[in-house]
Amino acid sequence: MKGVQYRVINNSHSHEKITNIIDNLTTLRGFDCVAGMQGLKDLLISDVIEPLKNPEKFLKFKLSIPNGILLYGPPGCGKTFIVKKLAEELNYNFFELSPSSVATPWVHGAVGNIAKVFEMAKMQAPAIIFIDEIEGLIPKREELTSSADIKKEEINEFLLQLNNAGTNKILVVGATNRPHMIDTAIMRSGRMDKRIFIGPPDFEARKDMFRIFLSGRPYDKDINFDELATKTEFYVGSDIELIVTQAARLAVAEDKSFIDERMLLESAAKFQPSISKEELAYYDKFTNLERS
Ligand SMILES: Nc1ncnc2c1ncn2[C@@H]1O[C@H](COP(=O)(O)OP(=O)(O)O)[C@@H](O)[C@H]1O
Ligand SMILES: [Mg+2]
Repeated sequence: MKGVQYRVINNSHSHEKITNIIDNLTTLRGFDCVAGMQGLKDLLISDVIEPLKNPEKFLKFKLSIPNGILLYGPPGCGKTFIVKKLAEELNYNFFELSPSSVATPWVHGAVGNIAKVFEMAKMQAPAIIFIDEIEGLIPKREELTSSADIKKEEINEFLLQLNNAGTNKILVVGATNRPHMIDTAIMRSGRMDKRIFIGPPDFEARKDMFRIFLSGRPYDKDINFDELATKTEFYVGSDIELIVTQAARLAVAEDKSFIDERMLLESAAKFQPSISKEELAYYDKFTNLERS
């Protein structure tokens, strides 16, 4: 088993992308696929996309160009989804570095693999390197036992690569559900100095998601989407998908010709939202810590 595995998705040569374009000229891409979350999209545009697209404009005013960003927040809220859409929006190639939690005698290979991914991204720059569950790759160093020298070597290699990412036209994006478990060294300026909270879908996002998941299924055109969004606070994308699937099952079971609002509300009432206020408070604590 390897310490670090990587997967390469080359946007510009992707067969899937080309087929999509041929098949359907109106295929949505980038942020057009992201339901609601206007505040988040605006922030990514102004603080990440614009500086990367027009670096001279920002450097002239002594504003830095992001090297790395950290997306944090509860599971299922779209961190992985957003970073893929960000790559499309930027038209960057997309590379993924996924830390394995198991330490093995091969773990030295991890250091080499980290270097390899950065090398490949550099050759196909501009590129995003995405590290999901980044706390696995960069755990707090003071919590490692003294025998974890190899892990420390891995962390150092990553920090070194991260320092040079921007100059190689690489944007490193980390994502985590557990921001408190990450080594604070990556937060230092010039590294992942931009931290963005991705919270549960807002009202508009929930409304759009109902539409997205209903599309292609027969449904009542009189459905009040405002009402559905109001009743589904703290439900995440996968919850809404489940509500729609359950409502579809209900329509079949009741032998109806389409899904209606009652079926959707009944399905929603059958289970609790994935996110609780307590869970959100955990992330608030990290956000406040950041600001102080
Ligand atoms: N704003 C959004 N617009 C459209 N779909 C979304 C949105 N947020 C989340 N989703 C859906 O929810 C799914 C789960 O999100 P994901 O990115 O896996 O969450 P996370 O990485 O934060 O755990 C995505 O695959 C996507 O289909
Ligand atoms: Mg994810």
